[in-house]
This record gives sequence, C-alpha cells and structure tokens, in this order.
Amino acid sequence: MSHIHAPPASSGRTRLHPLPLRLMHWINALAMIALIGSGWKIYNDQPLFAAISFPGDWTLGGFPETAYKLHGDAGFGGALLWHFSAMWVLAFNFIAYLTYGVATGRFRRMLLPIRISDILQTIRETLRFKLAHDDLTMYNAVQKMLYIGVITLIIVQILAGLALWKPVQFSWAAALFGGFDGARLAHFLGMMGICLFLGIHVLLALLVPRTLLAMVTGGPALHRAPAAERNPT
Ligand code: HEM
Repeated sequence: MSHIHAPPASSGRTRLHPLPLRLMHWINALAMIALIGSGWKIYNDQPLFAAISFPGDWTLGGFPETAYKLHGDAGFGGALLWHFSAMWVLAFNFIAYLTYGVATGRFRRMLLPIRISDILQTIRETLRFKLAHDDLTMYNAVQKMLYIGVITLIIVQILAGLALWKPVQFSWAAALFGGFDGARLAHFLGMMGICLFLGIHVLLALLVPRTLLAMVTGGPALHRAPAAERNPT
C-alpha cells in the first residue's frame, strides 16, 4: 500500500524529506567526507598499522608552498586544521539531526521497528537482485539497520575523538575505550565502518536514483505527515 500522492504545488512542508532534514543530511555528508580525507592524512603521518596507509591524492590538508617556506614541512598541520573545523560542523549538525529525529518522531516512524523476518526477506530479495524500493516513504529492514548502525558509529567517533583531542579533560571518554590507545583504535575502526557504510549507501542511492533526487528535492508529499513534521519550525 502506498502512502504517497502527487505533491500539490504548495505542499513543501509535507515532503518525505523536509528541508531541515535534507540540509542536515548534506551538511553531515560534506563534513564527514572532510573528516575522512583529513583523518587519512593525519593517520598517514603516524600509522597505527604499518601495512595500512591511504593514497596521498585522496587526503585533505596541507599548507600552501609559501607557508612551507616560512615554517618548514608542517606535515599534517593543514589536515589537523581541516579535521578540527569539520568536527565542530559535524558535531553540532549531528546533535541537531538527533534532536530533530526524536522530537518529530521521524526516527520512530522511519527507522523502527526492525524485524528479523524483514531483514532476512530483504537479504533474500537483494541476493536475487529483486530488491524493490517502490515506496520511497518506507525504508527496508537493511536500510534501517544501516542508518541506525551509522548513527551509532558517529556517536562512537565523537566520543573517541573527544578522548584523542583532550585526553585529560575528557578522561571519562578515554576510559570508555580503555585509555588513549583504545580510543585511537576505536576511532580508526569507526572510520573504516563509516567508509564501508558510505560505499554501500552511495551504491544503493545510485542504483535507485529516485531516492537521490528525493534527498535533493524533498521527494513525494506525505498523505498523513505527523503534526511535528507537517509544520517544522
Ligand atoms: C558519511 C556520510 C553520510 C551519512 C552518515 C549518511 C546518512 C544517512 C542517513 C542516516 C539517512 C537516513 C535519513 C533519515 O531518513 O533520517 C540517509 C539517507 C539518504 N542518503 Fe545519506 N549519508 C551520507 C552520505 C550520503 C551521500 C554521499 C549520498 C549521495 C550519494 C547520500 C544519499 C542519501 C539518500 C539518497 C538517502 C535517502 C535514501 C532513501 O530514501 O532510500 N548520503 N543518509
């Protein structure tokens, strides 16, 4: 059963992805890409694992040549500046997204419940290349899992990041990971998890381009939008 109908011209407020949600999603995506690129450069300077390093061309940060002449090779200094700037954007935007998701009931409506039987059915359909996404107003069980998973990973990343940034002031955060080294490992593994999510997420969006368009334009109008999302302030 579909809950959608053609959007009337004046129904911008009842879209599947309301404007605040879209803005937060794209700000989050940009901040996350900047964090990953600059994080790779910081990592390359002092790798955790000798066998793992990231291609320099894919990293973000560095000083202009004039700055190198003045200050010598600043290594990953430029990347650190990118990382520290993007982390504030991500953290505040993410807190806004969490607040919005809970306050408007979006998380409850779009991300819950997740049933084991639904997950198994979605996996079966995917393996048979029969995964349909006709009704954009509902996420399938695997999407729900991926979204809840990445939201959890971002929370872990922020906590581990705080522990690495100010291990003394945020010693409670470092303690959650068993100390500074544990926080560093968790931050690295969290980054890998987010990269994996991003790869699958972008692939799925490209396979069903209507979803991508909806995340840009707002998508179909909802028949019965919850009151809070009907009139977002
Ligand atoms: C690491 C960066 C990203 C994260 C953490 C992320 C996270 C999310 C989350 C949590 C949702 C569900 C939003 C909600 O309904 O409340 C979502 C939806 C979506 N995202 Fe992303 N996203 C990221 C990057 C991207 C990128 C780069 C693209 C573009 C290719 C993209 C395209 C989409 C689309 C099309 C949807 C809607 C899916 C659908 O309607 O089936 N995302 N994303």
